[in-house]
Parts: sequence; C-alpha cells; structure tokens
Amino acid sequence: MRSKASRVEQKSILQGLPSKEAAVKAGPVLKWAGGKSRLLNSYEEFFPQNFKSYFEPFTGGAAVFFHLKNKHKNFKATLSDLNQELINCYTIIRDQAYELIADLKKHKNEEEYFYALRAVATESLSPIERASRLIYLNKTCFNGLYRVNSKGKFNVPFGFYKNPATCNETSILASSQALKDCDLNCSPFDAVLKHAKKGDFVYFDPPYHPLSSTANFTSYTKDSFSGSDQERLAETFAELDRRGCLLMLSNSDCEFIRNLYKNYRTETVYALRAINCKAEGRGKISEVLVLNY
Ligand SMILES: C[S@@+](CC[C@H](N)C(=O)[O-])C[C@H]1O[C@@H](n2cnc3c(N)ncnc32)[C@H](O)[C@@H]1O
Repeated sequence: MRSKASRVEQKSILQGLPSKEAAVKAGPVLKWAGGKSRLLNSYEEFFPQNFKSYFEPFTGGAAVFFHLKNKHKNFKATLSDLNQELINCYTIIRDQAYELIADLKKHKNEEEYFYALRAVATESLSPIERASRLIYLNKTCFNGLYRVNSKGKFNVPFGFYKNPATCNETSILASSQALKDCDLNCSPFDAVLKHAKKGDFVYFDPPYHPLSSTANFTSYTKDSFSGSDQERLAETFAELDRRGCLLMLSNSDCEFIRNLYKNYRTETVYALRAINCKAEGRGKISEVLVLNY
C-alpha cells in the first residue's frame, strides 16, 4: 500500500530544497555488482531515441533506468528483479521515502551493530526496516555489494569505512520521484513476456556468463544463473523481437553468448572490472551489447 501522507511530505521536502539540491539527478541508491553507472557513456549512442514503455527485468542498481528517467522524464516503467529485498527497497523508496530516511538515521557505523543487524531474520522486520537494513548493509559492508550464500543470507563482512553515506536524503528523495509511476515486481525475467508490447524498450542486464569457472560474480540470489538460464533468456529475447519490442542486452564477451545472439546486431563496449579481490581482475574487459534495432 502506498502511503499518501508520506508522498505529500516527500513532495514538499523536494520543493523546499535549495535549487542546487532540488536539481540532484536520480541515480542508483545501492551499489550493485555489475552496476552500469560507469558504462552509461558507452551505452548512450545505443539507446533508442523513442520508445513507449520501459522494462528492466534484471534491475539491480537500476543505473540505466535512472539515466533514462533523467533524460526522458515521462515514460511508464516496469522494474523487476528476483531479489525480494531489492524490490522491497525500491517500493519503500517510492512510497515511503520520508519514513525510510527517519529509519536510516538510527543506524550506527560499528562492527558489532553491523553483524547484529546482518544476522536479523528479515521476516521479523517491517518493510521499511528491511529497506533500511539493506541500504545500511550495502553502504557499510566491504566493497559495498550485495551477496548471499546458498541459503539466501547476506554474507559480506563489515567494511570499516570512516564515513559511509548511509543516509543520503537528497539522493533518496530524487530516486523516489523518479520511481513514482513505476511498477515494481519481484519476478523472474521472463515475466516481461506478459507485459511488453510493440514499441516498448526492454533492457536486459542478466548476471554475466562466466568467462572461467571461478571468475564471475553471480550470487545476487541464492540460485545462480546457469547456461540454460542464458538460453531461456535468448528465447525470451527472440519472442519479444518477433513482437516488435526494442531490445538491448548486455553480457560477457564470450563465444557462448555471441553464438546465442548470432542473428542480431552486436556491439563491443569496454568496462573496468570492479568486483574482484585480485588486482589483475580489475583491468579493462570487453563486454557485448546485443541490439535488435
Ligand atoms: C548484473 S545485475 C543487474 C545490474 C544492474 N543493471 C545495475 O545497473 O545495477 C543482475 C540482476 O539480475 C537479478 N537476477 C538474477 N537472476 C534473475 C532471474 N532469474 N530473473 C530476474 N532477475 C534475476 C539479480 O538479482 C541482479 O540484481
């Protein structure tokens, strides 16, 4: 349920901000493994100029959504992801940002507090507390990422940062505004087939297919994303292509992925690999963009 009172309050907060802060662009509230913030410049020339609705079935940090929203403003969007904590967090940012900010202010940047909150069963918390916990853990954990073990429990250690931005009010409020007309769903990627129509733009950013058996990060949810998931995704892509949707997909640059999309236009972009503990894993690597337009 959306809280109407809180939305009014949020609006008045934004209106009351000094113009510099009011002009803050919406952007990812969470740091997310595979986040696309640093690739937006390389992607820019490949986004369609016009589209009807927007769909992002692997939302994560939603960097592409926020970028397009800052640019185009008025489009209807559906953001979805299999990660329930993430979708709850966006729902609270959209509907109860003011209450979320109040809850975020109670957290402490202390190791003992971090581990106690990390251990809390999310089912025992209210949706606002869950969203607040996720943002807090994301900002204070090592390397600021979301990773779970095979039981679905968040397992990143404390980061020992001096001043983590656990409560960036203007950023949360700007994101809340951007999300306000969005549909947010916790669902598998192929749910997009139920809703996307001709002329809609769908951006797929799945967990990348591993370049080696140990290289890739795919622990966003307790179930990893396998080769057969990549094949099902390629079928979903083909079905939406037949429907007349505008499609863009990013993935690792490897033979398996290039082969799955061999009938489509592909472009190569270069990314700095950020999530890897080894220095040699941080170089520039090529990634593939698949487009049907
Ligand atoms: C590469 S990340 C997306 C990153 C995002 N584009 C960004 O800028 O932060 C992949 C996302 O896919 C989600 N995911 C994994 N398996 C999924 C599935 N079967 N259906 C939908 N989402 C899934 C993960 O929870 C994760 O958030």
